[in-house]
Amino acid sequence: KRHLISAADLTRDDAVLILDTAEEMARVADRPIKKLPTLRGRTVVNLFFEDSTRTRISFEAAAKRLSADVINFSAKGSSVSKGESLKDTALTLEAMGADAVVIRHGASGAPYRLATSGWIDGAVVNAGDGTHEHPTQALLDAFTVRRRLVGPEAGLGRDLEGRRITIVGDILHSRVARSNVHLLTTLGAHVTLVAPPTLVPVGVEQWPCDVSYSLDDVLATSDAVMMLRVQRERMNAAYFPTEREYSRRYGLDGERMAKMPEHAVVMHPGPMVRGMEITAEVADSDRCTVVEQVANGVSIRMAVLYLLLGGADTALSAAPARTE
Ligand code: CP
Repeated sequence: KRHLISAADLTRDDAVLILDTAEEMARVADRPIKKLPTLRGRTVVNLFFEDSTRTRISFEAAAKRLSADVINFSAKGSSVSKGESLKDTALTLEAMGADAVVIRHGASGAPYRLATSGWIDGAVVNAGDGTHEHPTQALLDAFTVRRRLVGPEAGLGRDLEGRRITIVGDILHSRVARSNVHLLTTLGAHVTLVAPPTLVPVGVEQWPCDVSYSLDDVLATSDAVMMLRVQRERMNAAYFPTEREYSRRYGLDGERMAKMPEHAVVMHPGPMVRGMEITAEVADSDRCTVVEQVANGVSIRMAVLYLLLGGADTALSAAPARTE
C-alpha cells in the first residue's frame, strides 16, 4: 500500500513521474469534458481538521475529474467538537469504505499516524500537517516553476537542475517551506531561505539549503522567489513582528521585484496577506504565478490520486484519451 506523507520520502524518479503525470492530467483540464473514468467506484475522503480553501477544493476537483466519489469532512461542525478522537473518526471513515483519505491536521505527524495505525485500509495523502509538511503543495510549486522556467513540453522528464529558488518569510511555521526544500533539492534546484532570525527554525543548518537574512542580497540571483505568509495563528502574540517593520525588510514590492532577473517569477502558496509579505502590485503582476499554482494544483492532485489508487497498472499515456 502506498501513501504520500512527506516530500522527503520522494526520490527524484518518483517526483518526476508525478510531475510528468500531472502534465498528462493538465491536458484533461483543457478538454470540453474535463473528466476521466479512471477512479469510478472509488471513494476519496477529504478529512480537514484545519481551515483550507485551495487544498480542499482542488483535491475535491481532482477526485471528481477522475470520477471518484468524494466525501468532504470538516472537523468544524463534526463530532470532533464533542471530543471524538482521530482513531474513532478514522474507523468511521473506514466503515464508509474510504479508498483514500486526504488529511489536513494541526498536529505534525497526524497523517503518518493514520497511515501506520491500521485504523484504515486506504491510501493516506498529507494535505498539510502542523509545521511539518505539505507535499502536494511542493509538487504543484515544482510543477509551476518547471513549466515557467523549462517549458511544458521540454519539461517532461526534466528536473530543476541548477535553478535558484528563494523562499522568503515565516520559515519557522511553514510546512510549505520544509516540503519545498526537500523536493526542490531532490530535483536539483538550489534553495535559499530568507527570514528574520526569529522566524528561522532551530537546526536549519542541517537542511540542504542556504539561509540569508537579507532579501535584497538574493533577488538578483533568483529564478523564482516564493513569498510566505506570516502565520500569526501559530505564534505567541508577543513575538509577532510589526507589520511595517516586516514589510520594510522582507516584503516584496514593485521596487524589489524590479531587481529580479527578467525571466524570474514570483510565487505564493496562498492565502496571501496583501500589504504584508507582498504588495497588491506584485500579487497582480504577470510575473506572479499564484493563480497558475492553484490551477496546477488540480493536475498534481489528479496525478497523485491516479498513481496511488488506480494508475500503477494502467498505461498512463492512454488514460487522458478516455473521456466520458
Ligand atoms: N496553500 C494552501 O495550502 O492553501 P489552503 O490553506 O487554502 O489550502
